[in-house]
Amino acid sequence: MLKKKDKYIVAVVGATGAVGNEMIKTLEDRDFPVEKIRLFASERSEGKYLEFKGKNIKVESINDNSFKGIDIALFSAGAERSKIWAPVAARSGCVVVDNSSQWRMDPEIPLVVPEVNPYDLKWHKGIIANPNCSTIQMVVVLKPIHDAAKIKRVVVTTFQSVSGTGQKAIDELLQQTTDLLNFKEIKCNVYPYQIAFNVLPHIDKFLENGYTKEEMKMVNETRKILGDSSIKITATTVRVPVFRCHSESLNIETEKKLLPDEVRAILSVAPGVIVYDAPDKNLYPIPTDVAGRDETYVGRIRDDESIENGINMWIVADNLRKGAALNAVQIAETLIETA
Ligand SMILES: NC(=O)c1ccc[n+]([C@@H]2O[C@H](COP(=O)([O-])OP(=O)(O)OC[C@H]3O[C@@H](n4cnc5c(N)ncnc54)[C@H](OP(=O)(O)O)[C@@H]3O)[C@@H](O)[C@H]2O)c1
Repeated sequence: MLKKKDKYIVAVVGATGAVGNEMIKTLEDRDFPVEKIRLFASERSEGKYLEFKGKNIKVESINDNSFKGIDIALFSAGAERSKIWAPVAARSGCVVVDNSSQWRMDPEIPLVVPEVNPYDLKWHKGIIANPNCSTIQMVVVLKPIHDAAKIKRVVVTTFQSVSGTGQKAIDELLQQTTDLLNFKEIKCNVYPYQIAFNVLPHIDKFLENGYTKEEMKMVNETRKILGDSSIKITATTVRVPVFRCHSESLNIETEKKLLPDEVRAILSVAPGVIVYDAPDKNLYPIPTDVAGRDETYVGRIRDDESIENGINMWIVADNLRKGAALNAVQIAETLIETA
């Protein structure tokens, strides 16, 4: 449990990665009460320096004693590292907010989006899981609609940026684009096919049921966060050659009829959501506008004319920010508020 203090000793694990970098920036931007920051990555990065509030901080590799004296550890170094080190950190007395998929579906571990289910933080035992990036932006929009009209079914198709795969994928899109424009041969190291100027209906591993792990994360994590296993969800997740921000097409069927204007009214007061929906002026959310922003943007809200109680919409959020770093920092802020 976190003790009330004026300032906290904070660790970022995976500090050199795409999410870790954004975590450092988010802690700075939100003026998180940091007494001291410790930055961890693999042995490859040992001795590198990263900047926090104008100071150079040395990157450390992790050992059994690394977490002694640390109050809060924000993990984003992959599931394998979280499996080994998050329990070590928790046993050392620090509260872990884990970005990986390792603990998300563990019934003993809360899976939290602060705008949706902050109450689940009450029962944590040292580790709190941060949901998958595409799930986070979807549930901040689904929750107020579920409260107003009870959601029966969701059909979601995602358009996910390469930063969702990490720094190596950002570099690969940039390199392939440059190489193609210079008539050079391209290399595919991160994805099985060319990602520049292409679209891949494949995120994470394929499972026996024909879905990908990413698609099933959206189904299972959404039910856990909303605390309602009766909601039917089906997902298709697609990687697109965009650097930052995931976009999603949502089709939502509700028990009670909601008109598009009612949905706009509900979402315009929902925490963490901005309605940006004026098709007559060509205004709808797009990744280049939403990158670097904290909220989930919603547009193209319209009636699904093929069923009685259906709504379609288009949502965009910054996957590195709300989809990862910001949500983790908000969890830590909520823990501090309630300590
Ligand atoms: N990208 C997203 O939008 C997103 C969203 C939600 C959740 N996540 C999750 O966040 C995690 C990190 O993702 P990312 O996109 O930031 O990946 P990334 O850019 O590849 O960064 C991975 C980080 O993990 C560190 N690391 C690797 N092996 C390590 C080890 N043995 N010990 C300590 N640190 C090690 C790396 O350090 P080195 O630089 O030294 O190799 C690097 O700092 C993943 O679990 C991912 O599923 C990502």
